[in-house]
Amino acid sequence: MPTTHAQDRAVLSDHGLEIDASTPETWTALAADVLRGLTAEGEKHLPPKWFYDAHGSQLFDEICELPEYYLTRAEEALLRSHGAELAAAFPAQELVELGSGSSTKTPLLLEPLLATGHLQRYVPVDVSPSALAHAEHHLGQRYPDLDIERRILDFTTQLSHLGHRRGGGRLIAVLGSTIGNLEPVEVQAFLEAVRAQLGPRDAVLLGVDLVKDVATLEAAYNDSAGVTAEFNRNVLRVINRELDADFDAEAFDHESRWNARYERIETRLRANGPQRVRIKSLSLDLTFTAGETIFTEISRKFRRETVAELYAGAGFSLDAWIAGDSNEYALALARPS
Ligand SMILES: C[S@@+](CC[C@H](N)C(=O)[O-])C[C@H]1O[C@@H](n2cnc3c(N)ncnc32)[C@H](O)[C@@H]1O
Repeated sequence: MPTTHAQDRAVLSDHGLEIDASTPETWTALAADVLRGLTAEGEKHLPPKWFYDAHGSQLFDEICELPEYYLTRAEEALLRSHGAELAAAFPAQELVELGSGSSTKTPLLLEPLLATGHLQRYVPVDVSPSALAHAEHHLGQRYPDLDIERRILDFTTQLSHLGHRRGGGRLIAVLGSTIGNLEPVEVQAFLEAVRAQLGPRDAVLLGVDLVKDVATLEAAYNDSAGVTAEFNRNVLRVINRELDADFDAEAFDHESRWNARYERIETRLRANGPQRVRIKSLSLDLTFTAGETIFTEISRKFRRETVAELYAGAGFSLDAWIAGDSNEYALALARPS
């Protein structure tokens, strides 16, 4: 569940750590998530947003190029073939992209929107400052007349900091099937928060990966070059650096498996032997038994009905469903109902 800064501080304070006012909110949020997740009863867990330091964002860009990771190519193909149609359906004045990363695919949306003559502003939003800086640099050079305003925000807790829409139409896009990484309890709250940032005539566009055969899905998250495994272990390196911990990242194996009941890939780190870990900044000593796991990410896969239901539950109605002939991936445009 998304938590507030006050809740994060309270978790740390209950653990005997008093946080002074100069401590960055991001550090407090990481410390509280690690404390909650690694001392949890039952399976240990960590939220996926902590994968994305500069190295994690770079690894994610490498994942997008892997032969097994069909998602990026599928989404690009749909944006290329239907971008003009989407722009005509909704000629936005402002494009806000949540979880934009390095915005590599965004030109496929920006260009048809610019061609309508309405687009003035692009607002990439991410937790990764390095990915945002990279995006601003390459898009700024390519589109010198576009107003680009990057925002470092956690979209699960800080969407209200986005700022007012400035007249014209606002389109909020969430590409890369990023919405599939949210816990079921988070999705509804997230879409409601998105709704609150939109006026009655604005729109939202989700890129969603669809349910398909298990072999294709599992291969996408278990690439033969081991890049996804490195990306998964990166969260331990982030904790080592930020919280002065001594995880041996190589002592954890990467595991991504299909869960048919929940229609999602579940990604874990599995201790390949007994481990003792000290997290100095939290005065925390942890033990892992051989085979014990840390649940690090879900990647939910969607069907048209589930997306329509999620939209309806948050006050949207599905306006366009673009899945192409292969039906492996979809773009889902919705408007406030
Ligand atoms: C699956 S990647 C997708 C990146 C890009 N949209 C794409 O399609 O290639 C998820 C992105 O969302 C960002 N992200 C993850 N959790 C976030 C959060 N809670 N708030 C803001 N950004 C987040 C990550 O830093 C990363 O850039």
